[in-house]
Amino acid sequence: MGYDLQGKVVLITGASSGIGRATAVEFHRAGSRVVVAARSKDKLDALAAELGGDRVLAVKMDVTSESDRTLVLEKSREAFGSIDVLVNNAGWASFGTVQRIPMANVEKMVALNLIAPIALAREVIPEMLERGSGQIINISSVVGFQAIPRMTVYSATKAALNGFTTGLRMELKGTGIDVLLVAPGSTNTSFFDVADAIDAKASRVAETQYTPQRVALAVVASSRKRRREVVLTADGKMITWIRRFSPRVADLIMYGVAKKGMPLSKAGSA
Ligand SMILES: NC(=O)c1ccc[n+]([C@@H]2O[C@H](COP(=O)([O-])OP(=O)(O)OC[C@H]3O[C@@H](n4cnc5c(N)ncnc54)[C@H](OP(=O)(O)O)[C@@H]3O)[C@@H](O)[C@H]2O)c1
Repeated sequence: MGYDLQGKVVLITGASSGIGRATAVEFHRAGSRVVVAARSKDKLDALAAELGGDRVLAVKMDVTSESDRTLVLEKSREAFGSIDVLVNNAGWASFGTVQRIPMANVEKMVALNLIAPIALAREVIPEMLERGSGQIINISSVVGFQAIPRMTVYSATKAALNGFTTGLRMELKGTGIDVLLVAPGSTNTSFFDVADAIDAKASRVAETQYTPQRVALAVVASSRKRRREVVLTADGKMITWIRRFSPRVADLIMYGVAKKGMPLSKAGSA
């Protein structure tokens, strides 16, 4: 049976730009009430104005802050009641070899890409259990399945998010709560511009690029159809498929991709 999005309360983190913003637009279009959260309140307000009406709530929050997480949930519940769908989308990357990226960046990626989704899931699970329904949708990445050099730590946070998603899905089996994973490939957002590139210019590393709207449509479709796991872009599907049969070949391909996008000769130098 499909999941009816009409009137559902959907909390989307990182909704001020890119995939999160587009996802908010698509859930809103599907008839849901959306709570859009991020640090850039001006961008969230602009999104709320664009969507219009009373099915949108903009909340300024840093997902890595425990008090902000409490605040966003309080405000959502006050405005719309309990959360039906949590979309853990906020994310960030620091590009660089393991030995050169600062520990502060390592900690920031772990806090944002892994701990925040876990913490928010823990907050919404009790009310979902009470209702016997709900969805937790984690936005991972193709590199969570197959790491890429110089995005090693970012890849590791997404791989951990994949593990969290799988384990949580089993823990919640039979409760009516769906735990879903959407793994975008290279997508045309500000992700690569806001990334902290330590030892190489970060570039869009794949040939095929999705628009954020295309990813958003896949997120909404996976919610409706309760799809456990969706991997996006032709390149993304190909590399995860190859990895299943030959991890060695997958490594070689990703090495080549990284070399083209971010010259590996510079890795570790200076
Ligand atoms: N673009 C790609 O090629 C790609 C590929 C695979 C996976 N992904 C994943 O897709 C997700 C969305 O990325 P995107 O491509 O849409 O990038 P983006 O345009 O840079 O959007 C990232 C969003 O995360 C928010 N954010 C960052 N730090 C935050 C914090 N501490 N607290 C709250 N919100 C925070 C940003 O808003 P504020 O700055 O306003 O807080 C922004 O709305 C991420 O999880 C990313 O890892 C992206």
